[in-house]
Amino acid sequence: MTTTFQERGRAEGAVHVALSRCRAQPLTPGPFPAKRARGDTKERGQMQSNIDLKGLRIAVTGGTSGLGLALVKTLRTRGARVAFVARSAASVKRVARETTACGVLGDVGRKEDIDSIALEVTWNLGGLDVLINNASSLGPTPLALLADTEGEDFLEALAVNLIGPFRLTKALFGALASSAREGRGAVVVNISSDAAVTAYPGWGAYGASKAALRHLTAIWAEEAKAEGVKFLSLDPGDMDTPLHALAVPDADPTTLKRPEDAANEIVASLLDALQAGAPLALRA
Ligand SMILES: NC(=O)c1ccc[n+]([C@@H]2O[C@H](COP(=O)([O-])OP(=O)(O)OC[C@H]3O[C@@H](n4cnc5c(N)ncnc54)[C@H](OP(=O)(O)O)[C@@H]3O)[C@@H](O)[C@H]2O)c1
Repeated sequence: MTTTFQERGRAEGAVHVALSRCRAQPLTPGPFPAKRARGDTKERGQMQSNIDLKGLRIAVTGGTSGLGLALVKTLRTRGARVAFVARSAASVKRVARETTACGVLGDVGRKEDIDSIALEVTWNLGGLDVLINNASSLGPTPLALLADTEGEDFLEALAVNLIGPFRLTKALFGALASSAREGRGAVVVNISSDAAVTAYPGWGAYGASKAALRHLTAIWAEEAKAEGVKFLSLDPGDMDTPLHALAVPDADPTTLKRPEDAANEIVASLLDALQAGAPLALRA
């Protein structure tokens, strides 16, 4: 069963943080930034990095490491109300304490966890404006050619990278549509990869799952126009994270992007989408 970190902690007697602490993040509605920044994504990331996000309610899956952790930190620093999801109780506890974001224990690849993740997110944030499907599985590690990939490893990549985002988006769609109706705006950001569009040998399970997620994003963007819910598929670029180190152990980390920079670019893109923007952006 999935619970907030605070609830799980209480049940296990490991921590004693009142659940209300999750709800203690500011509830002030908007205002969202009035001006749209111009320029490329990196410039926009820099230009928009000072914009106050107070009142924006955002859920991030995979919020305890790499890009997800950078997103949780920057969003909290800028005043957003944030809930994040991950599987490791110790990591969720640490990040919840450090960022005062609301930690939710759960596995997005497990069907049984999805409804409780969605309930915890909406209850703690009082609704939802932005969902960032960021948690990801590489499939087989070390990476393997398709001919050497076990079906179970392929299924794991599909469960976490495709079916999980599908189920969670579906479970949260009502909350997002309600936010759009209220004029707050609503955006789903699906974190993609260049492996979604380039056939890298050894990245079969991961690449196929990301390609499917990208297409799912495009279709959902069409279907959700009437409800005013926007969808983005964004490739953060090669970043210095544990996932990258697992996939490419001999990569030189100094050549890789900082997850903090990618996080700022993603925030800039989602602000664009919230303010006006096209109903769909595929940048992967
Ligand atoms: N790093 C790169 O170079 C790169 C390049 C292109 C795209 N991307 C994409 O960027 C995103 C972030 O990658 P990253 O490199 O930051 O990864 P990372 O450092 O490995 O972090 C992954 C996060 O997701 C959580 N997570 C993993 N599986 C989960 C599950 N089944 N349910 C819930 N949470 C789960 C992890 O915590 P727990 O293990 O505790 O659950 C952790 O918080 C991914 O979508 C990835 O595909 C990364």
